[in-house]
Amino acid sequence: MLHTFRKGLSWLISITLSTTINRHTDISKLHIMPGLRLEGKNAIVTGAAGGIGLETTILFLREGASVVLADISEPALEKALAKAKEVVPDAVGQVKTAKCDVSKESDIKALVESVDEWGGLDIMFNNAGIMHADDAGKFNYILDVHRHLY
Ligand SMILES: NC(=O)c1ccc[n+]([C@@H]2O[C@H](COP(=O)([O-])OP(=O)(O)OC[C@H]3O[C@@H](n4cnc5c(N)ncnc54)[C@H](O)[C@@H]3O)[C@@H](O)[C@H]2O)c1
Repeated sequence: MLHTFRKGLSWLISITLSTTINRHTDISKLHIMPGLRLEGKNAIVTGAAGGIGLETTILFLREGASVVLADISEPALEKALAKAKEVVPDAVGQVKTAKCDVSKESDIKALVESVDEWGGLDIMFNNAGIMHADDAGKFNYILDVHRHLY
């Protein structure tokens, strides 16, 4: 498990270092040489329904990975999946969505197991998070959401 995590982390770091991404980045407009550096790798991206998670999903698909888009919002996931397929119509990897609340350990367990049918997890991008002003009174919930990052 630790070995798989380390392997995934090294892939993530190498791809992140070679491309600077932030919330304003539109990956579809970046001129990245598709190198299929993640071909054959299976990735989970949490918080994939928008923002950095969706852009990372698109980048991973362009690099040949199979990707599970995980998020708490199913309708947002469906839109994100449509966007990813539109932007990367010729993806060599597979792509699917999974509803997952990362503050619930049972959801995370089911999410990781959902990749077994592809041969197991290589990359886990723990991106889901909340940082909105109206969440200020929900300290314990914020801790639950972010606990999986540490
Ligand atoms: N954008 C920034 O400038 C910035 C700065 C510092 C840290 N971050 C962190 O980076 C990550 C992504 O940022 P972003 O701007 O793309 O955020 P975003 O709000 O656009 O996207 C976050 C996604 O996480 C999902 N999410 C929220 N709670 C969840 C839960 N319990 N389970 C599963 N999914 C959940 C949301 O539905 C949303 O799709 C977040 O963790 C954020 O805290 C962002």
